[in-house]
Amino acid sequence: MPIFNLKSYTDIVPASHRVFHDYTVDVTEEYKSNEENWIPYVEGVHFLPLWFGTRSQPGFSNILRVQPGKQLNPHFHPTGVFGFTMSGSWRYLEHDWVATPGTFLWEPPGEAHTLVVPADAKEPMQTYFISLGGLIYLDNMENGVPIAYDDGFTLLEISLNYYKQIGRDLDELYKLCR
Ligand SMILES: [Fe+2]
Repeated sequence: MPIFNLKSYTDIVPASHRVFHDYTVDVTEEYKSNEENWIPYVEGVHFLPLWFGTRSQPGFSNILRVQPGKQLNPHFHPTGVFGFTMSGSWRYLEHDWVATPGTFLWEPPGEAHTLVVPADAKEPMQTYFISLGGLIYLDNMENGVPIAYDDGFTLLEISLNYYKQIGRDLDELYKLCR
């Protein structure tokens, strides 16, 4: 589940990795087919991290993968979000469009929505997202009560915990922090 409590007193990135310079990640088919590169997020939902906004700009960028019939619960964005659908199809319950491969999306600040992939979808959806800030999960769209929060820092923490669990080099994640 997304993080409920924020307890760090630093950005949790080691001083040696607090850098600003450019970097690249080659998301090849081989890279995407390595299941270890996908961080478990919520049931049926993984993300492949590309950028944790810990220094120059808050936010995060990743490829989100959602399995058929799964969803990202209602959440609110205080900042803008860009998306580009790479495969599969998905939509927000609150809108009438359906994103398919090649669909570009701009989500304005102040919007709450529920991301769903149809249960009869033939494949998971994969969408490249750039969030310029955090996101706040809501109990439901009617009440709109915040119940959880994520941003570049909490997603980094989730990813670090996963890498520790599978015995993977944490530097691979720190390299994505800017
Ligand atoms: Fe969203």
